[in-house]
Amino acid sequence: MTRAEELNQIQREQNEACECALKKTALQPVFGDGNPDAKIVFIGEAPGKKEDEEGRPFIGAAGKFLAEMLAEIGMKREDIYITNIVKYRPPDNRDPEEHEKHECAPWLHAELNFIKPDVIVFLGRHSMTHFLPGLVISEAHGKLVHRKIPNIATEYFFPLYHPAAALYNGGMRETLMGDFKKIPKVLEKVKETKK
Ligand code: URA
Repeated sequence: MTRAEELNQIQREQNEACECALKKTALQPVFGDGNPDAKIVFIGEAPGKKEDEEGRPFIGAAGKFLAEMLAEIGMKREDIYITNIVKYRPPDNRDPEEHEKHECAPWLHAELNFIKPDVIVFLGRHSMTHFLPGLVISEAHGKLVHRKIPNIATEYFFPLYHPAAALYNGGMRETLMGDFKKIPKVLEKVKETKK
């Protein structure tokens, strides 16, 4: 089995096992997507309408903006792995609730522990506070956090504003783009610490 096939099998098993109530209202699960050997994993919030219809994360407006930002730093979707904390679309795109994040968490942790990236990027507060409770996104964005978390292979976390929140807000968009441009240096720094 290739690494991609192994990861796909993990996702199918996790989908079977997941007891999140959102499974009943969503059209389908949205598996994480991208390079199983990625050095960097991005974690969003939950699938939106388009993701629910097509079964792939970040393919709507927020995903297009993310692709633009990746291009700015010379990266493509194929270089990264992208997933969500909640794997099923919440009705009317409401925020995921704590228990829903908790129910989908073993799935996310299984993805992360298979890929073992150098850095995890949080897209917005929902994924950030799951791993780093107590942090506030308006203060934490764009700053590399080093933290040992039990059962998480990675120790480096980089919180960013969510691209959907920044899309139509000029100031936040500029801030997000500025933070995003720090990613190559962040990856370099973490790679150095592993030597
Ligand atoms: N927003 C997210 O957080 N995830 C998606 O997959 C799409 C939009």
